[in-house]
Amino acid sequence: MADRKSDRQVGIIGSGLIGHSFAMLYAAAGYRVRMYDIKPEQIQHALFIIDDQLQHLAKNGLLRGKLTIKEQRSLITETNDFTECVKDAFFIQECVNEGLELKREVHSQIDSICRKDAIISSSTSTLVPSLISEGLTNKNRFIVCHPTNPPFYAPLVEVIPAPWTDPEVVFTTKELMTEIGQVPVLVKKEMEIDGFVFNRIQYAIVGECWRLYEEGVMSAEDIDKVMSEGLGRRYAFMGPLEVTYLNADGLLVFGDLYRETLYRVQCSFGPPKKMEGPTLEKIHNEIAARIPLDKLYERRKWRDIRLAHLQKLKNELDESHS
Ligand SMILES: NC(=O)c1ccc[n+]([C@@H]2O[C@H](COP(=O)([O-])OP(=O)(O)OC[C@H]3O[C@@H](n4cnc5c(N)ncnc54)[C@H](O)[C@@H]3O)[C@@H](O)[C@H]2O)c1
Repeated sequence: MADRKSDRQVGIIGSGLIGHSFAMLYAAAGYRVRMYDIKPEQIQHALFIIDDQLQHLAKNGLLRGKLTIKEQRSLITETNDFTECVKDAFFIQECVNEGLELKREVHSQIDSICRKDAIISSSTSTLVPSLISEGLTNKNRFIVCHPTNPPFYAPLVEVIPAPWTDPEVVFTTKELMTEIGQVPVLVKKEMEIDGFVFNRIQYAIVGECWRLYEEGVMSAEDIDKVMSEGLGRRYAFMGPLEVTYLNADGLLVFGDLYRETLYRVQCSFGPPKKMEGPTLEKIHNEIAARIPLDKLYERRKWRDIRLAHLQKLKNELDESHS
């Protein structure tokens, strides 16, 4: 007899980078997943990637959850019928391309056929929930779950309610994210904060990397090493505020020692620049010489297996120090 969880359906709309990865997460936790995409050939591609990743994870002893590959895989089914994906789902994760009009259109379709008690979640990176959901009948059940790419290998999820989202929806969404192995953080003010928190920090970093490259300070490869071999080493375990706290004897001492330096350097950052023109081409070409575009899938696999090992290491370290 099927257990309660495998009777509960999650609907995934859009089977690209984020959609197929979310599908793997829910299946690893034991939920039944129905995946829909407007392009049927894309779903077949997504299923191929899921199969390949499950095999790769199992081979490296990194499979998530307690289910075998076969059991996880059998929980994920595709459909070319939007209604079939949505109507029985208790949780819907929309993962279509970024764009307000497209998101509104898809959510209006979901709104007209979803269960009245379903939670409707969007993966949007930057669109505020009230703009997507304002016209919906079930807008009190709408929430944004903005994942880190790829969600299966990087657990942080920004949970962003609209002002009209039911508190119970926020609570249940955070609980579900935790249950499937993600780490939810709550964005408390949606309208005042363009780009939410994750991308504000990410864009600040990318913007400064761009400036340093354009001014000829470092090669793209060396700039990336500053993060992967330096800053990122600590950030995998603690955030920049705690790093700063530990870099002196607490934040108060750090402030006394470095506030003028920090402020002076920050004042030199200058206005934002658009990612365009010859700099864009130069950075692209420099990276493409190492990672040709036809090798992206292999490089993503290389990244993902390292992220999975990092997660395993973190779990082991947490367990041995608990
Ligand atoms: N890629 C990232 O780094 C990242 C990170 C966090 C959040 N997000 C967000 O997740 C969402 C999806 O991004 P992605 O990177 O997976 O994009 P993607 O291009 O890889 O996938 C989008 C998929 O949506 C499908 N689609 C388009 N219109 C559709 C429709 N009407 N119905 C059903 N399917 C439709 C496309 O065919 C495609 O397969 C976006 O909102 C994006 O901002 C992306």
